[in-house]
Amino acid sequence: MRAMTYRGPYRIRVEDKPDPRIEHPNDAIVRVERAAICGSDLHLYHGMMPDTRVGHTFGHEFIGVVESIGSSVQNLSVGDRVMVPFHISCGTCWFCARGLFTNCHNVNANATAVGGIYGYSHTTGGFDGGQAERVRVPFADVGPEVIPDWLDPEDALMMTDALGTGYFGAQLASIREGDTVVVLGAGPVGLFAAKSAWFMGAGRVIVVDQLDYRLEQARTFAHAETINFAEVDDVVVEMKKQTDYLGADSVIDAVGAEADGNFLQHVTSAKLKLQGGSPVALNWAIDGVRKGGTVSAMGAYGPIPNAVKFGDAMNKGVTIHMNQAPVKRQWPRLLEHIQAGHLKPSDVITHRIPLEDIAEGYHLFSAKLDDCIKTVIVP
Ligand SMILES: NC(=O)c1ccc[n+]([C@@H]2O[C@H](COP(=O)([O-])OP(=O)(O)OC[C@H]3O[C@@H](n4cnc5c(N)ncnc54)[C@H](O)[C@@H]3O)[C@@H](O)[C@H]2O)c1
Ligand SMILES: [Zn+2]
Ligand SMILES: [Zn+2]
Repeated sequence: MRAMTYRGPYRIRVEDKPDPRIEHPNDAIVRVERAAICGSDLHLYHGMMPDTRVGHTFGHEFIGVVESIGSSVQNLSVGDRVMVPFHISCGTCWFCARGLFTNCHNVNANATAVGGIYGYSHTTGGFDGGQAERVRVPFADVGPEVIPDWLDPEDALMMTDALGTGYFGAQLASIREGDTVVVLGAGPVGLFAAKSAWFMGAGRVIVVDQLDYRLEQARTFAHAETINFAEVDDVVVEMKKQTDYLGADSVIDAVGAEADGNFLQHVTSAKLKLQGGSPVALNWAIDGVRKGGTVSAMGAYGPIPNAVKFGDAMNKGVTIHMNQAPVKRQWPRLLEHIQAGHLKPSDVITHRIPLEDIAEGYHLFSAKLDDCIKTVIVP
């Protein structure tokens, strides 16, 4: 089959790879119909995540048709069109039993922190991902779900990560009726978090980024106010100004390890790799939230310690919630919202690119060219 493969930082190509096989009775093989590139894939593409091996196939957002199933699979049949959550979870361990699907203890030899994720380096289990013609789906009775007939398959694709993660980010922000919520980052995750904040009763939603075309989407798609951090002297002061100098009730970090906005942090993280990512957005969140407020960290960071303003967070009484999003938990509620017409997730998709041209897709998304927000790959 044809599959995206990693060759090294900023170098990927499409190669022939052996077709995946059923390796366990509860595996399924899915023929991929649509995959997407996530902001998390960019951390791999830029060489930020440890143990990203040459030859690995990325892609943790995908939908497709079940081509074959192992002998113990009961919930799926050959021919089903399924959406597959980005996390691989056993469904029965202590963590899965409590809905902490991204912390599953059984799927990743390094599972002291994160569980299994498709195509997300060997730190998350080394499973090949879905930016390919076919993919092996372990624990096929646990993760995938048949896409309902009424649901646009590209909306289902957004559910597999970005939408579920944005919604989870808003949930972890502990929003109460009338709260002011700041979302850092107007990528797909930030846009979905901003949209979801309204569902949870926010009174004001303010999105911060430096890319005007994405802030435009924050205003139209997510009906948010916006701040371009490159156009203000100090974005934290600006957040304070706009919130009666108290700070926001909640701030959601939808940026993660590759945040811009501070040269020193950029050099010590992206260049010298002394930190598991630049904590600029997280520190803006800690500084911009009011005392006693909540920070929700959806942005991904590497495992190495970061220069996070922990003392300030402690002295302000800030609550910080975070995790890789257990998106499957969000699906029932998200399906209700989509069916009720509250949002059209695929509105954030800006590019559809054939698998053979995926290197171009990564380049566009990474360099934020051609007003790119979300790139979908068509095998
Ligand atoms: N927790 C999870 O389960 C989960 C799931 C998916 C994605 N993620 C993470 O969420 C983050 C966002 O993903 P995405 O797909 O939207 O990525 P993206 O790269 O499209 O978006 C990031 C946005 O942040 C902006 N930005 C950069 N520095 C900023 C700063 N200091 N303040 C405000 N905005 C800034 C960029 O201009 C960009 O628009 C990534 O770190 C990704 O790894 C986490
Ligand atoms: Zn992702
Ligand atoms: Zn588990």
